[in-house]
This record gives sequence, C-alpha cells and structure tokens, in this order.
Amino acid sequence: MVSLCSDVIIRGISLHSSGSTSSSHPAAGVSLGRFQRIQQLRSERCRASSFVRGLSVLGSSSSYSSLITSAQLFATSAKLRKIRREKISCSAMGIQVVERDQEIQSESETQRSWFLDISIPPETVAGFKEDYEAEAKTWAPDLGTTMDFYRLEEFIASAHMLARKWLPRDVVRKLETFYHDPRQPSVMVIRGLPIDEDMPPTTYDGVKTKVGKYMSEAWLLGIGRIVGQPFNFKLPPQMVTAAGGGMELIVREILPRREKEQNASNYGSSVILEMHRDFFTCAPECAVDVLIFMGLRGDPRKIGKTLVADYYEIYNRLSPDDIQILREQSLTWQFGPTAESGFTHPVIFGTEENPEFYIFEEEVLSSPVEDRVKGSAEAMAAYRRLKDVAREVAVEHGGVDVERGVVLLLNQRRVSHGRTSFEAKYDGNDRWVQKILVNQGQIWQPYGPVPWPERHITYRTVKHGP
Ligand SMILES: [Fe+2]
Repeated sequence: MVSLCSDVIIRGISLHSSGSTSSSHPAAGVSLGRFQRIQQLRSERCRASSFVRGLSVLGSSSSYSSLITSAQLFATSAKLRKIRREKISCSAMGIQVVERDQEIQSESETQRSWFLDISIPPETVAGFKEDYEAEAKTWAPDLGTTMDFYRLEEFIASAHMLARKWLPRDVVRKLETFYHDPRQPSVMVIRGLPIDEDMPPTTYDGVKTKVGKYMSEAWLLGIGRIVGQPFNFKLPPQMVTAAGGGMELIVREILPRREKEQNASNYGSSVILEMHRDFFTCAPECAVDVLIFMGLRGDPRKIGKTLVADYYEIYNRLSPDDIQILREQSLTWQFGPTAESGFTHPVIFGTEENPEFYIFEEEVLSSPVEDRVKGSAEAMAAYRRLKDVAREVAVEHGGVDVERGVVLLLNQRRVSHGRTSFEAKYDGNDRWVQKILVNQGQIWQPYGPVPWPERHITYRTVKHGP
C-alpha cells in the first residue's frame, strides 16, 4: 500500500499534568498517555514509516507550570525519498496537521522516532536557582574540579535530587527509560534549564574558569544520575597534559582553542568532526552508554552544532551488500603503536531492529594514517559508504545548537555524533559546551577495574575475535 503522510506539525493540543494534584509541585508533567495518543494518531493517519518534524505541542494546564511547550519528534525512514507537500486539517480531533510531505511506501516499514526536543517553560523551573543556592551552601568551593570522590558523591546526590525535583515528571520518566527502551528516542534535547549567570569568557588553558558556579554541572550530573552513573576515565598524566588538562574531571569542557583549531577534537573548530561513537572499545564496566552535553554559550553565528545520525536510520539507507560485508568482515582500528592497541570488530552488529555500529573519526588517532583503520578493500569501501550515509543523515537532520541552557542526550548504542566546523573568534564569546560520560551502572562490578566507590575508571579495552 502506498499512502501519503509526514513532516507534520501538530498544534493546539491542551495537555494536562498527570497524577499530582498539588498546584505547587514543580514536577507535574505532561500526560504520557496523551503523548502516546498523539503518536498513535500519527500512526493511524500515516499508516507507515514517516518522517515527522516539529511536533509542536502548545497549551496550558491551569494551575501547573508543567507544560512541555514544544516537542520535536522525528520518525524516520530512509527509504522514503519522494517529497511532496500539502496541507491538511484534522480539526475534529483538535489537531491541525499543517504540513504533510512524504510519500510512504509500505505499511510494513517500522516507525521510529529518534529525536525528541523538549522545552521547559521558565515558570516550571522558576524556583530552581533559589533551591540550588540553598543546596550549594553545603558544597566545597572547588566541587567543579574536585577529584575527591566523597565530595563528588555529595555533589552528585544533591544534583540528582534537584534534577528529579525540578524536571517535569514525564521528562524524568523519559530519562529513566532513555537507554533501556528502544521505543524512546535515541537523541533527546531538553531546553530552558537555568544555568549560572555572569559567566566568565569562553577561554581555557587547562584550568576551569567557571569556579564556584555549578548550576550547569548540577543539571548535567543530576540528569546523568537519572539516566545511569556519571563517570570518567583515569587517564595517564601525559594524555591529560597533551589534551591541555581537564579531561580527567568528571565534567569535561568543550570549547575552541586556537592552537587546536585544526584538530578533530573537543577543542577544534575549523574542521568538521566526522560522525563517530565515543570510546567504543571500552569493556562493559566502563562503556560510555550515554553522552550528555550542556550548553553554556552557543556559537554566536549559529554555525557550530552537534551533529547526530541514528543507526537505524543509517542502516535503512545502506545496501544489503554493504550490510552483509560490514556484519561479516572485521576492520582493525589502530589506537597506538603496539599490536595490543589494535581493536578488531565488524562495523555492524546487533539486530535488524536495533543495529549497532562501530563508527569512528579516525582523524583523532595518532597512529600513521595508513594504519588507523584496516580491512579488506571491499570492507573499507563499504565502511566509507556507511560514513558518507551517516554524514548525509546528520546533515539532513541539521544538528543541535547546544546553546545556553540546552541539554543534549545521546544513546551511544543507537546514534552517532559529530560537530560542524565553525569559526572561532577567541573573543570570549565562542561556543562553550560541557560534557559527561554515563554508564548504565556497571562501573562497580566486582571484577572490574574500578575501586568502588570511585567514579574514575582505568580505561580497559574489551577484546573481540582473534
Ligand atoms: Fe565524540
């Protein structure tokens, strides 16, 4: 069956907070059931894989400051290419579909929603700052840079409490299931979170400049603790020094540095950071299951963005031959000069429904170019095509401007990420993002390399194959 649908914007839905009847409770949220009804409605009307852009939900819920005022939902199917636009109205349902633009090929194609964009209304988090400041009175002034795990634990506990208290309930629910439930989006954006005022200029010389103000860190670690366990790697001193310092801190800084302008790294700007998966060689107890970014200052020119490309979306654009080659043949990435620093694995694994990729930005490797990744000629060609498709998906999507007050979550089992190139001015107003790594709570397995209760883990590579 061929039908038409997609790229819809749904407006005018009045949402009601579910459960709580307390008019003062900040965490009353939008009804998940209502949200699912919207998805079901879309499913019924569209009857097949669709590409839904800009599900914009507007409304009010009387006494609550609890609305998700804007949600963007992308359900994608790469097989759908023929674009057609028309406008329709579904006023009987109180819903107006204002755009409709893709030809749908088959009812059997699976619907996937991989991008969710939520805006928190200012009134919902109006009391956060006061609550944060009361909590922060008990913190040591160097919490943002401490490596003392007892103090770090106090900070994470406070941050966790604050995030759970001030985020709408359905947002917390989505965070709880973000990693575990494949029906959840693989990318989630939360906008409108209040962060520190009077920010220092965007600059970095290995020492954090944002000292004594940790609202952004509180959101990052609080949200990270809802999703799983924030952690970082214990890195050799030479690696920390080479990177310019700060990589060992549980909250990492991403901001342009003039001497690293051409680097495909957290500090680069003038070159694109190609689509990749962070730390994919890690053993399970230190796997970076989820990445979380928080914007402190967006690129003033709105060019510097984080790129995202969902694996399922990429998978559906690959040829069957390439899929077979990349499932059956292994590539070897060479992360250092010794044989032990090589990592050999097929690029594609996992199921048809939940395919996983090992996709990497080989420019970050210090090994000779010809050694960075190796495989048969056909496997290398298929890998290059996969990377091209990943970039195509990312460019089509457009990326995320991780600007002030924006949190971006990536499920690394389901989505690759990168960064656009952009112009850094080094005038103190450049793009500034923070980042944490999250594991799904396996970091303290008894046989693992983590001395409980530390959150800094000795990097251990899992070995596959021969
Ligand atoms: Fe990355």
